[in-house]
Parts: sequence; structure tokens; C-alpha cells
Amino acid sequence: MNNANICNFFNSKENHLASVGSLFRNSGIPQWGENTLFDIKNVPQKWLGIQGYCITVSSNIISAILARSNEDFTEILAIATHSAYKNKGYATKLLTYFINLKATSYLLEVSTQNTAAINLYNKIGFNALSTRKKYYTMPDNSLQDAVVMKRSCFPQTVGT
Ligand SMILES: CC(C)(COP(=O)(O)OP(=O)(O)OC[C@H]1O[C@@H](n2cnc3c(N)ncnc32)[C@H](O)[C@@H]1OP(=O)(O)O)[C@@H](O)C(=O)NCCC(=O)NCCS
Repeated sequence: MNNANICNFFNSKENHLASVGSLFRNSGIPQWGENTLFDIKNVPQKWLGIQGYCITVSSNIISAILARSNEDFTEILAIATHSAYKNKGYATKLLTYFINLKATSYLLEVSTQNTAAINLYNKIGFNALSTRKKYYTMPDNSLQDAVVMKRSCFPQTVGT
């Protein structure tokens, strides 16, 4: 992980948008694929408060996070790690970096079936707030519950 860099992929000189969109799409988060990311970049007034960061290794996108902030809290919209790099701490590194940028509360929702993501969020200090029954419709039309998770503003920083 020594040669890993973190950058804002909306401001990056290298155009990482297509690669991040592809990563999200291939990670089961197609709603944040290439087309949406290009829309965010090109029509920013429609997408106020959206930020995106990624980890690169030798210019390859390894992990990425997308979030939206308002005055009261930041919502984590998506996080994914490339399949070849999972379980190596990249999502932890990126989420930790992102949370330490801004002292605010963080909210998210995730499928109750997504054990990897829930474990990641628990590790970073998120706690379950509530459950939304039958919230997600899966590609096979089955329904999954969502858990809403929150990380309070304090402690302000997480382990480095
Ligand atoms: C969730 C995800 C982002 C984790 O990325 P990652 O880079 O592999 O995560 P890390 O290596 O930093 O692992 C962090 C913690 O997550 C948990 N975790 C990761 N993979 C796991 C798995 N397969 N099973 C159970 N827990 C897992 C562990 O608690 C781990 O901490 P530990 O290594 O100290 O035990 C990745 O699995 C992914 O891209 N999933 C598909 C997209 C997705 O579902 N995103 C979340 C909803 S938007």
C-alpha cells in the first residue's frame, strides 16, 4: 500500500471518472456508474455537495468513495474496492481519510445482506440506527432490507 495515492477524482487532472464509474458499476452499484459521474462533473448545480475520492496505484483506480454533504451531515453514497485488491485495507484507508477531512456526522444505508460493508462501517465507528424493510429490489426481483447507519461527529478523527 506504500505507493497508494488518494485524490479527488472530480478535480483530478487525469480523468479518473470513467474508471471510477466502471468500478462502481462492476461492484453492484450501477446507479453511480460512468453516466451519473459525468453528469455530476458537467452539471454541478444539480448535484450540490457531491464529493468523490479514490485511491490509485500506478494510475490504476483501486478504491473509490462518493458522498454528498449538506450543512448538517454527510451521506456516504457509494464505496467500492476493485475485486483484485479487496481485504487489503484500501476501503478502510479511503473511508478514514474521507471522514477525517470534515468534522460532521456521517450517514449511510446499506443492505443488511452486505456483511463486508457493514463490518467495514462498524470498524470505522458507524452504528445501526434503523432498518428499512424490503428497501432494495435486487436484479432477481427479490427484496432486501436496508440498515441506516450513523457515525456521530465525535470522536473527530479515526485511527491513522
Ligand atoms: C465493502 C468493500 C468496499 C470493502 O472494501 P475492502 O477494501 O475490501 O475493505 P478493507 O480491506 O478495508 O476491509 C475493512 C473491513 O471490512 C470487513 N470486510 C471486508 N471484506 C469482508 C468480507 N468479505 N467479509 C466480511 N467482512 C469483510 C472487515 O471487517 C474488514 O476489516 P478487517 O480486515 O480488520 O477484518 C468491498 O467489499 C466492496 O467493494 N464491495 C462491493 C461494493 C459495496 O457493496 N459497497 C458498499 C455499499 S455502497
